[in-house]
Amino acid sequence: MEQYVIRGGSPLVGEVEIGGAKNAALGIIAASIMTDDVCLVENIPDVRDTDVMLQAIESIGGTVEHVDRHTCRISGGSITDQRIDTEYIKKIRASYYLLGALLGKYKKAEVPMPGGCNIGLRSIDQHLKGLSALGASVKIQHGMICAEAEALTGAHIYMDVVSVGATINVMIAASMAEGKTIIENAAKEPHVVDVANFLNRMGANIRGAGTDVIRIKGVPSLHGSEYMIIPDQIEAGTFMFAAAVTKGDVTVKNVVPKHLESISAKLQEIGCQVMESDDAVRVVATKRLNHTQVKTLPYPGFPTDMQPQITVALALSKGTSIVTESIFENRFKYVDELVKMGASIKVEGNTAIIDGVEGITGADISAPDLRAGAALVIAALAAEGVTVIEDVAYIQRGYEDFHLKLKALGGSIELADSDREVKKLKLKVS
Ligand code: EPZ
Repeated sequence: MEQYVIRGGSPLVGEVEIGGAKNAALGIIAASIMTDDVCLVENIPDVRDTDVMLQAIESIGGTVEHVDRHTCRISGGSITDQRIDTEYIKKIRASYYLLGALLGKYKKAEVPMPGGCNIGLRSIDQHLKGLSALGASVKIQHGMICAEAEALTGAHIYMDVVSVGATINVMIAASMAEGKTIIENAAKEPHVVDVANFLNRMGANIRGAGTDVIRIKGVPSLHGSEYMIIPDQIEAGTFMFAAAVTKGDVTVKNVVPKHLESISAKLQEIGCQVMESDDAVRVVATKRLNHTQVKTLPYPGFPTDMQPQITVALALSKGTSIVTESIFENRFKYVDELVKMGASIKVEGNTAIIDGVEGITGADISAPDLRAGAALVIAALAAEGVTVIEDVAYIQRGYEDFHLKLKALGGSIELADSDREVKKLKLKVS
């Protein structure tokens, strides 16, 4: 089991290049099988979740040609099966996009109930409601979601909650339904827009992505296309907070600053300098940060996927801060690990009350999920002494070369693949 061995205390300084957006890539890879032609998809992050998605496509007969580390030619032309049942697909959340894509194209799909980070109940009722509204009969049997339709027909769908996954999934399926679909109360995240742009490039007719009403005119077929995935807003935000927490100076390159506005605004509010250019953001922190209040919200609000990272920053800031998690009910599990490092945080329901401390110290901890894991790495880089973080596989699901990028910024972080290696590295970094 891989672990990170980290010695904290050095400010992160330099430039880091951000990769493609994982959560856009997952939707785009799934949607690419809706044509029998080839789609050339660029800027796919090389992380475990996208690997699993590509392997799932191969498991049903689709072809995936890796052109280079971040570019694939994907074709759904040779798909022979609409049932996906690989061991790994059960562990990722975005398996549900294959439901929408296969149902849209073949009017039939069977995929396992989605897994993913354990951050709350994570119901899929809005996905099922949307696909049913398009005319599919959807059943859950033996751990599989089975959807089938004679034909898919456009519908007027009002989402009861703002859901990124359900919005993308219904949009994917509806792009090949007969007639017009309207999705109201749609999610507005940049990756919703990216998947819509990709589908439009394939010949779909989707308008309004990025607003809360998306209008789709179904088309009978889609064609091949070439597409470059947008930069990852959360990877960028994570490095921005890493700069803040270590009192560093980091230029985060290849980003869309507009997508980072809520993150930049909070960093400025707590005392960082944030300088934007066309496709980069520089974060400089020179002194101890200030307290604040933050509530996670759907885009353009402060992202739930940045909640653990801001909590780490506030754990080291002056005064008392309050963080309210309004999207997922179980996203504070990492707080116990921060407390082991000396942070003073109390969780009451969906709120964390943080009494900022002057410093934290290294400890043996484990990553409970992807974003919390990344936040604990940032904490360790700011802590005095050595931290060992277990279960880094969670982090590798969504961050490409995370430790290498941090090392290039001057962080003392090593990847160990055994307990013996951990012992050796602990001596090396001490
Ligand atoms: C996506 O999850 C992301 N995952 C998550 O990123 C991200 O945290 C989340 O959106 C919010 O931005 C992927 O894109 C693969 P939601 P998703 O549907 O689509 C409730 C990461 O770290 N809900 O927007 O599953 C749900 O319980 C991951 O990269 C329903 O009630 O999130 C939650 O409270 C973690 N019924 C809220 O809506 C549904 O049918 C938002 O969930 C669907 C969702």
